[in-house]
Amino acid sequence: MTNLILFGPPGSGKGTQADKLKEKYDLLHISTGDLFRFNMKNDTPLGQKAKSYISKGELVPDSVTIDMLRSRVEETPDVQGYIFDGFPRNINQSEHLDKILEKRGSSVTGLLMLEVAEEEIVKRILNRGKTSGRADDNDEGIIRNRFKIYQEETTPVFDYYDKQGKSHKIDGQGSIEEVFERLCTVIDSLKK
Ligand code: C5P
Ligand code: MG
Repeated sequence: MTNLILFGPPGSGKGTQADKLKEKYDLLHISTGDLFRFNMKNDTPLGQKAKSYISKGELVPDSVTIDMLRSRVEETPDVQGYIFDGFPRNINQSEHLDKILEKRGSSVTGLLMLEVAEEEIVKRILNRGKTSGRADDNDEGIIRNRFKIYQEETTPVFDYYDKQGKSHKIDGQGSIEEVFERLCTVIDSLKK
């Protein structure tokens, strides 16, 4: 299997790039943010639990997020690999991901971090907010809180996989096509 973690702050282009990468490498894209939004739209118990956290730009508790991710992996036994987008967001989630993949006799192939500066992030997300319909994309305070949580809780995930020799930094600024080419160059160099 090829299991990629697409990593980076909110608005760094993870979803956009995952859509292109899943076609090229024939992988299943799992976006935990999209799963939450689907559940909120359908007002499921999971969506109701997640809502208050997401509306403040905070992390949903691990117990909820990890179970949701695990179910999605367990219900797709035949795929060649995954692109994880928005997960793991902290060290505990990383340890669980490793165990979930280990049960499949597999592991994380590589983590790809899209680097984008905070001011560019705020600009991009406010722009996305005009059409995304997401309340958390339309308030600068919430956007900056999401960035702060990324720096405090999520960036240690980079170091966690770096210790395993799996983390890679990619310049996330430039055109969609330019960033895609940079990602492909790294992915093609990974040990699979
Ligand atoms: O990944 P994305 O930016 O779409 O996630 C939107 C929101 O969903 C996050 O700001 C956070 O509130 C919540 N989330 C989370 N834990 C994850 C993924 C998303 O709490 N692993
Ligand atoms: Mg996204």
